[in-house]
Amino acid sequence: MKFDILKKDEGSRARAGSIHTDHGIIETPIFMPVGTIGTVKGIHQKELEDVINADIILGNTYHLYLRPGIDIINKAGGLHKFISWDRPILTDSGGYQVYSLSNNRKIKEEGVMFSSHIDGSKHFFSPEKAIDIQKNIGADIIMAFDECTPYPCEYNYAKRSMHMTHRWLDRCMVHMKKTEGLYGYEQCLAPIVQGSVYKDLRKQSAEYIASKDADINAIGGLSVGEPHEDLYAMTEIVTDILPEDKPRYLMGVGTPANLLESIALGIDMFDCVLPTRNARHGLIYTNEGVINIKNSKWAEDFSPLDPELGIETSTRFTKAYVRHLFQVKELLGPQITSLHNLSFFLKLVREARTRIIDGTFVEWKNQMVVKLQTRL
Ligand code: GUN
Repeated sequence: MKFDILKKDEGSRARAGSIHTDHGIIETPIFMPVGTIGTVKGIHQKELEDVINADIILGNTYHLYLRPGIDIINKAGGLHKFISWDRPILTDSGGYQVYSLSNNRKIKEEGVMFSSHIDGSKHFFSPEKAIDIQKNIGADIIMAFDECTPYPCEYNYAKRSMHMTHRWLDRCMVHMKKTEGLYGYEQCLAPIVQGSVYKDLRKQSAEYIASKDADINAIGGLSVGEPHEDLYAMTEIVTDILPEDKPRYLMGVGTPANLLESIALGIDMFDCVLPTRNARHGLIYTNEGVINIKNSKWAEDFSPLDPELGIETSTRFTKAYVRHLFQVKELLGPQITSLHNLSFFLKLVREARTRIIDGTFVEWKNQMVVKLQTRL
């Protein structure tokens, strides 16, 4: 997998680039819509392609392994075929959902024993198994199996966990090399930096990950409840160490302001459930600030949802109408807001890219961060 840097920003660590995969080019910085269980909730694949213009989407090992199961995905010819999506897919390894969703998990050196959040059935994930599953799913980018420490996390626990994540990475790499891909296209493994909010651990972890010379490097264990200053401080320490010529992926982040600040710190890739989850609760991101469309103040507001976004859905429908759809719990409500929010996130990172290229990124970013945090 090749990464070309088109332009480096002079006022920050931001860069504009492109990642070349066998399923197409990903222009960075990029926001990856989360398609946990083989669908970006409420969004048709055609909308992902033509309206949102997503270069890549995310899938989840934990969810897809439980349902529909790897056998079915295999028989379909891989996840791309199963869900009818031709562009790149990245899968998270399960090293997050096992901790956040499953019950009775037991973490050992060998791997993690857990109970399904659906039916309580018992399962075991190891680094080797996480690789096998992701190879079978057919992800273009496979995430290493890690432990995402919670916040707060005691120093000694974070240290032990980080070392285990490093040993798990070594096992992932050995297994990745040893086993064949099933579908004939390139699948690459992305290691994950951990270390909670401890500077020395983050530095150590970033150095370890950097030494592996992977095609893509990720930063995990953030956006788990820590203050924003910690998120940025840890990101800055890590991006200073991770190779400059490889894409850097900040997992599970974040708000629009988080994206812009992290791009300035040298991050190229993001994913987060925020735009779609918030959309389902009626929270809409606009260029002027955040709107709760369920609020009665929009009941007679016949202005478009967001005239500036440049997609039909957001100019065609009024705030009053979308509020009404939420009031009466019609499916179209969350469909409109999900399409809107994802388009907003993708447009934001695209504009960041344009600004990096034309040399106006920092000034624009500083103005946007203030606007984006306004509550209307
Ligand atoms: N998603 C958000 N944070 C993490 C993390 O630390 N590890 C993994 N595997 N996925 C994540």
